Amino acid sequence: MLSKFRGLARLEAQVTARRSVSSQEVFDKESKYAAHNYHPLPVALCKGEGVHVWDVEGKKYMDFLSGYSANNFGHCHPKIVSTIQKQAGILHHTSRAFYSDVLGEYSEKITKMFGYDKVLPMNTGVEADDTACKLARKWGYQKKKIPKNQAKTIFCSENFWGRSLAAISASTDPLSFEGYGPFMPGFSCVPYNDLTALEKALQDPTVCAFMVEPIQGEAGIIVPHEGYLKGVRALCDKYNVLWIADEIQTGLGRTGKRIAVDHENVKPDILVLGKALGGGVYPVSACLANDDVMLVMEPGTHGSTFGGNPLGSKVAISALEVLEEEKLAENATKMGEIFRSGVQGAADKRVVIDVRGRGLMNATVINRNYADAWDVCLKLKENGVIAKHTHEDIIRFAPPLTINETQMNQAVDIITKTINSFSK
Ligand SMILES: Cc1ncc(COP(=O)(O)O)c(C=O)c1O
Repeated sequence: MLSKFRGLARLEAQVTARRSVSSQEVFDKESKYAAHNYHPLPVALCKGEGVHVWDVEGKKYMDFLSGYSANNFGHCHPKIVSTIQKQAGILHHTSRAFYSDVLGEYSEKITKMFGYDKVLPMNTGVEADDTACKLARKWGYQKKKIPKNQAKTIFCSENFWGRSLAAISASTDPLSFEGYGPFMPGFSCVPYNDLTALEKALQDPTVCAFMVEPIQGEAGIIVPHEGYLKGVRALCDKYNVLWIADEIQTGLGRTGKRIAVDHENVKPDILVLGKALGGGVYPVSACLANDDVMLVMEPGTHGSTFGGNPLGSKVAISALEVLEEEKLAENATKMGEIFRSGVQGAADKRVVIDVRGRGLMNATVINRNYADAWDVCLKLKENGVIAKHTHEDIIRFAPPLTINETQMNQAVDIITKTINSFSK
């Protein structure tokens, strides 16, 4: 009890100590010296703990973005913080020019947990997705015997897998790709949640892979119909095409299962994880596959300076342990139901035209005759909940999976009252 009180007192003192800088000064400095490739909500954060964050003036908020779902375990989770602190003082980086005593331990943990022969460790999400695409091309040439340089990869319209040249080459969003051409050849899209269109595309014998998010995140939390993922598995089997599941946002408990494909009990050929795999404290991403796919890559044909380093690997072990120990997928299911039924029940249906999602990956669609999603986010911030819009009419609500019932009820109350303040 006493130590809890001391912890809180220390937190207050740290927040107070940082009040020497105002929010406006933080905005001004970042805007002057950092590139303008984001348009942040005007909130200057300096401290986080669990589901809460504090701004430099000491105001407390509930975090309903979770660092774009990297903070599934909340801010400064004690076990994850202790792991990174400890390992940073032992051995942080070796490169894979040498063995470290952690990578094997991590690889065993993650492959056994998700049921694959091997893991290929990378850092950010976009790198892991890019790696999956490379792996599939190489498999296509070696195993499917696709003629040299003719391999095709199919994606879905409205997909999002990052900002590299390859990722934007697969994008259907002009905001992502306009002004950055020329683009990667061999990429094309079919509509999401459309098995007929997918089957047509997969009939082309030069297709090596189909990459898809089990729930589209940046597109606005689009949940496909029941049976879509099973259908994807069956079609990829039928046409000898690798199925790559991009679970960078949906993975690690977010949708109420360890990975979202578990909702339909199907297994992709390549599983891609990122974001929360690094516990929100360090970039860790991974491609998982069985040997018939993974071993097409030989030494020297792919790599990353930091991928698989001891620090990131230890953090990932901790993150996976926390997911299991704290039963966070189960909690996401329960808290998600409270969120959706609470908002559906209390929000003005003229202002909110849809509430959708799975587990703690949810969104509300705002009727633009009443407000823009951005204006609602600004008001939410004033009322103590921070969230971010995707598109002009959708707000994503993705709190840490550690959120409890009291906190969720409090958040639902703030969110519905804020939304209803836009009723005319
Ligand atoms: C489904 C999905 N894939 C890939 C990425 C890219 O991850 P990163 O930003 O770590 O490169 C994201 C990021 O939002 C994502 O949502």
